[in-house]
Amino acid sequence: MQIFKNDCYLKAAFRKKVNKTPIWIMRQSGRYLPEYQNIKKKAGDFLSLCLNVELASQATLLPINLFSLDAAILFSDILIVPYAMGMNLTFLNDFGPCFLNPIKSRFDMEKLIVPHPEEHMNYVLKIIKIVCHEISYKIPLIGFSGSPWTLACYMIEGNAKKNFSKIKKMLYENPKDLHFLLKKLTDSVILYLNAQINAGVSAIVIFDTWGGILNRKKYKKFSLFYIQKIIKQLSLIKNEYKIPVTVFTKNANAWLKDIVSSGCDVIALDWSVDIQKALKKVGKYVALQGNMDPHVLYAEENYIQKETDLILSRFGFREGHIFSLGHGILPDTDPKKVKFLVDSVHQLSQKYHQKIY
Ligand code: CP3
Repeated sequence: MQIFKNDCYLKAAFRKKVNKTPIWIMRQSGRYLPEYQNIKKKAGDFLSLCLNVELASQATLLPINLFSLDAAILFSDILIVPYAMGMNLTFLNDFGPCFLNPIKSRFDMEKLIVPHPEEHMNYVLKIIKIVCHEISYKIPLIGFSGSPWTLACYMIEGNAKKNFSKIKKMLYENPKDLHFLLKKLTDSVILYLNAQINAGVSAIVIFDTWGGILNRKKYKKFSLFYIQKIIKQLSLIKNEYKIPVTVFTKNANAWLKDIVSSGCDVIALDWSVDIQKALKKVGKYVALQGNMDPHVLYAEENYIQKETDLILSRFGFREGHIFSLGHGILPDTDPKKVKFLVDSVHQLSQKYHQKIY
């Protein structure tokens, strides 16, 4: 484990003793922050912001300067990988990401390249280097990627607002082609994440947002199998320090034990599961991240505090918990509530780490 002034995120990921439960938040740099809106305005739009080394570095650092978060996360998007593979990506306001040339055939898949990060995504590596220099061992920086399945969902559907009928049709009609694409994505993600590690990230998260739309058998074959392959091929030891890997599959609470077999160190939970039940199932093998419903941040402070304590108490007097929301923070969240949540987690969690065992 790498040494940071604040190393409670990394310690918790390896289920080691901490004094307080760490917290970071998915989309911690995002639209709920007026300062983020200003940075985005300077870049022009969201994609231009991801491509702008200086502004994306500022966006990464923004939330850790505003709140006592225990990890920074690279400011980018999972769809930067398909973009670098040759797909035409846009982000429409209030609609989210959209591929103007979704994949329809094997020919479309064959046209895509396996990007070389140093050549095709060098801007991401530069952002990581700048941010690592700026945070200079204060807290760890998390790097990330989408899972091949989740990336393929966007690439085949064009967006993820519909019912996933196109990718599911391909899965049953033409599984060989889908596997061809998933394999190409797997190769791309392995290169990309290893390059992020080389550039300086201290932890990895794999977002499998749409794994849960599959049934268990298909999940194992079309999503988990590739996540497993990726984790196996990551260079997770850096200068003798180990880099933890988190897997987040939304709506996969029935398959937590399967996810353990990916080789991850942490399973990120959405908010639909009781963390104590998840702990009973997989707590022997992995740390857990989560799992407050992001909507709770609409509530008054009193309620937020109660919900925070409830999650902490359900996890109980043991190590291996990273506090987080069960999904991304909502754009109309009051930043004051974020500060309140972060401080509450730190205060309320201390009692759970005092026991000697
Ligand atoms: O968490 C962070 O602060 C790091 C940056 C980050 C973003 N996206 C920035 C972003 C990360 C880790 C992601 C991951 C991501 N992107 C996922 C996996 C996690 C999840 O949300 O399930 C997915 C599926 C995407 C694809 C994507 N990008 C979607 C579906 C959207 C629209 C979401 C929405 O809330 O409207 C985006 C846009 C996006 N990615 C924004 C940000 C800050 C908002 C864009 C804006 O400012 O206009």
